[in-house]
Amino acid sequence: MATALAFLVVFWLLYDGICRLVGQRKNGDTIVGALTLLLVCAASWLACHWFAGRAAFLLVGAMLATSMSANVFFWIIPGQRKVVAAIKAGQPVDPVHGQRGKQRSVHNTYFTLPVLFAMLSNHYSFTYSHPQNWLVLILMMLAGAAIRQFFVLRHGYKLGRNRNPLAHAGVGVAMLLGVIVWLKPDLPPVGPASAAPVTVGYVELQPVLAQRCYSCHGAQVQMKNVRLDSPEALKQHAQAVYQQAVLSRAMPLNNATAITEAERALIRRWFEAGAPVP
Ligand code: HEC
Repeated sequence: MATALAFLVVFWLLYDGICRLVGQRKNGDTIVGALTLLLVCAASWLACHWFAGRAAFLLVGAMLATSMSANVFFWIIPGQRKVVAAIKAGQPVDPVHGQRGKQRSVHNTYFTLPVLFAMLSNHYSFTYSHPQNWLVLILMMLAGAAIRQFFVLRHGYKLGRNRNPLAHAGVGVAMLLGVIVWLKPDLPPVGPASAAPVTVGYVELQPVLAQRCYSCHGAQVQMKNVRLDSPEALKQHAQAVYQQAVLSRAMPLNNATAITEAERALIRRWFEAGAPVP
């Protein structure tokens, strides 16, 4: 918990530091944009290596959301106040306040959809439980930023200020589709060469479930009301077991019980054999 909070704070300090140091230089917007992108990528990578996938995605979402709020409270609103105060006092307005506020609000614009993606992806275990989940997260967030860019430019297009931005939406959607195709579970072929027996029945399956699943889905504990320690209960959840342990690989949770690939293959074969129970 403390690490997670520190993560939010450190990201803000670094991001804020980048904006302060280079934000007002020549090509400041571009440099800050590039550095912030790098920083978000690095943070995503770290989060996914330090925290379990689901928490990591939430944390990155929270990290961007926190910085969005901090931008508003520490820069955008105070900047406006100073401008208004200067105008009231009849003093010349320092344009830096406007520039800073604008830069931060542009960042907030691009953070919006990535935050949404990071938060929503929590319902889709195939995104955060992937071995390269940090890359999945980055690609999804980039897609979000590209789609956001489409909406920004579309406004300008309607006013005749820029070209039709459809390409941005295309890039964003193509990235999302690419991620989906990439994440589509591709099951290893199980041929006769594999170690698992050719037909898997309950007798072969039961010891695997006992060792890898009963601790959370047995007599003592029934996570999500799923019990797997009797043939009847197993039959009832057969589809879900296949889905969770073979396709999405969300189960065992964080692989707490260290299931092996061979055992996953065994569950798969059992299911493909019609999920037989005595
Ligand atoms: C360390 C504890 C733990 C272990 C071990 C574990 N599970 Fe789970 N399981 C959970 C939790 C927690 C949930 C609820 C997850 C949620 O709500 O997102 C769950 C949910 C499920 C569900 C319901 C999923 C749904 O969304 O409807 C199925 C099916 C399932 N587990 C199958 C298995 C199988 C099969 C194994 C063994 C290969 C296994 N689990 C091992 C903790 C565990």
